[in-house]
Amino acid sequence: MLEISDLHVDAGGRKILRGVNLNIKDGETCVLFGPNGSGKSTLMSAIMGYGTCKVTKGNIVFKGEDITDLPVDERARLGIGMMMQRPPNVVGVKLGDLVKAASGGDGGTLQRAGEFRMKPLLDRDVNVGFSGGEIKRSELLQLTAQKPEFILLDEPESGVDLESIDLIGKKVHDLLYESNSRCPSERRVSSLVITHTGQILNYIGADTAYIMREGQIRCSGRPMDMLKDIKERGYGECIECRRVKI
Ligand SMILES: Nc1ncnc2c1ncn2[C@@H]1O[C@H](COP(=O)(O)OP(=O)(O)OP(=O)(O)O)[C@@H](O)[C@H]1O
Ligand SMILES: [Mg+2]
Repeated sequence: MLEISDLHVDAGGRKILRGVNLNIKDGETCVLFGPNGSGKSTLMSAIMGYGTCKVTKGNIVFKGEDITDLPVDERARLGIGMMMQRPPNVVGVKLGDLVKAASGGDGGTLQRAGEFRMKPLLDRDVNVGFSGGEIKRSELLQLTAQKPEFILLDEPESGVDLESIDLIGKKVHDLLYESNSRCPSERRVSSLVITHTGQILNYIGADTAYIMREGQIRCSGRPMDMLKDIKERGYGECIECRRVKI
């Protein structure tokens, strides 16, 4: 579904991504680990075509089409959706109107908002004054309305209280596994999920994990094994038996 080859990205005049290679298959759920500042969010922004980062080399192919130079709205129309780590305030745009537009006006906005405990926020400007947890639920609510085929989730559980994590986890599960199938070839949606704590992995059956360091994806492995390694030994040396160096 997504093929990234030798991707180099600059932001603010600095080289952030230094040759990223990544293939995500149809229906695959991938996890991206990595220390703060290693370039994980920059990779997601580059895939979505969002923000000021600039691709200087390499390309991004989505469903066979080179999208490296496409604007963000065209990528969204092709079926890419993103839950941002720090989404912007959108002054003058009500959350309810945005969710309605994202769904193509299918009439399900109120019901969806109820499921996310977001009804009282529908009349407010998007993200303006939202708490950390409200921003996460708002982002997921928008994605649920948009129904993308490829979903980027940047730390979906970060800053969420212990009760709301259950709601977020179940909603992420529903978003990724509409068919309730654990077999990738029977799933409609592919995804790339950034997590530090791994809490979201209690709700989704991730297939492959990657570690990013200093703007490169260094190794891949089984998500729960890699999380255990990282907790015990940090992001550093690859454990040959569990992680495959890239
Ligand atoms: N517009 C910019 N101008 C200058 N530096 C930038 C810009 N955007 C990103 N960076 C830098 O690029 C590096 C990677 O940032 P990024 O947000 O991708 O990291 P991350 O892996 O997502 O980290 P975290 O786990 O803390 O979210 C950081 O050092 C950041 O300060
Ligand atoms: Mg980040």
